[in-house]
Amino acid sequence: MRNDLGRILKEGLEAIVAASSQRELDEVRSRYTGRSGALAAAMKKLRDLPSAERPAAGQLANEVKGKLEAAEEARRAALAAPKRAAAAVDLTLPGRAPRRGAFHPIVETTRRVAEIFQKMGFDLFDAPELDTEHYNFEALAIPATHPARDEQDSFYVEPGVLLRTHTSNAQIHAMETRKPPLRIISVGRCYRRDASDPRHSPVFHQIEGLLVDEHVSLAQLRGVLTAFAREIAGEGAGVRFRPDFFPFTEPSADFSVTCFVCKGKGCRVCGTGWLELGGAGMVDPAVFENVGYDPERWTGFAFGMGLDRVAMLAYGVPDIRMLLENDMRMFGLG
Ligand code: PHE
Repeated sequence: MRNDLGRILKEGLEAIVAASSQRELDEVRSRYTGRSGALAAAMKKLRDLPSAERPAAGQLANEVKGKLEAAEEARRAALAAPKRAAAAVDLTLPGRAPRRGAFHPIVETTRRVAEIFQKMGFDLFDAPELDTEHYNFEALAIPATHPARDEQDSFYVEPGVLLRTHTSNAQIHAMETRKPPLRIISVGRCYRRDASDPRHSPVFHQIEGLLVDEHVSLAQLRGVLTAFAREIAGEGAGVRFRPDFFPFTEPSADFSVTCFVCKGKGCRVCGTGWLELGGAGMVDPAVFENVGYDPERWTGFAFGMGLDRVAMLAYGVPDIRMLLENDMRMFGLG
């Protein structure tokens, strides 16, 4: 009896595992656990056993039945499920590379430049792109007669409100909302109605710097910009000042840094070894008066530079308009 049950269990399990369709499984069931199957035949023999052995043999028969039924159920579920899974994943196919993202050259450049000034203690200050003539012009001592005020040069949204033509509006916002001394930089888009060509775009990017304290000197402005030049172009790089004019600084200069492509030797890009990056100067006392800072006590310097040119040189972009076209090849993608 015991031997019979052991054999039924072993053979039954083998048959269940070997069954390759629901129909075959049905056959296996009727052969082993069905009403006229092997197990039922074995259980009939229980009656012939001495009564003392019957309970143990009955229990064993029930265990065998339970095991066979569980195995059959598992096999039935396995036969029903796997077809789709096998079709969905073909492990022999080559993988599909995930699409990578990348930061825009302007974003990378802005971060790199901003970080250099942040290390020198300048806070990042946010100023609006859409602003009033007061912040973009008047408070910066740019009179109504100044050519920059010409409506032909700027994007006016309504009278007195325009897309900022430079990040210098940040100087006024910063000084109106903070007390001196202060050290800020501000970055962002600027807009001018320039005819678009490889070097001009109606949308471009600037970084502005402003430092206000007591006894600030032109030498300190030079020192800060020289430190910047060394970070961007390496040890031995420097700054060149040339006299210039801005209504909101006095004296004013345009500044160049050692070309980081040729390290100042002179190349096709820079010609002279210098890259003209922007304007700078000592804050005009008239601007301090406009924001309510005492011009007798406070002194300061400001600078502003274009970031598009830096990005173009750093990334080898030949046309400024490519920075705005979002051609994925610009990012080494696509
Ligand atoms: N805003 C000036 C420009 O766009 C640059 C500048 C900034 C000059 C700060 C002096 C001080 O040309």
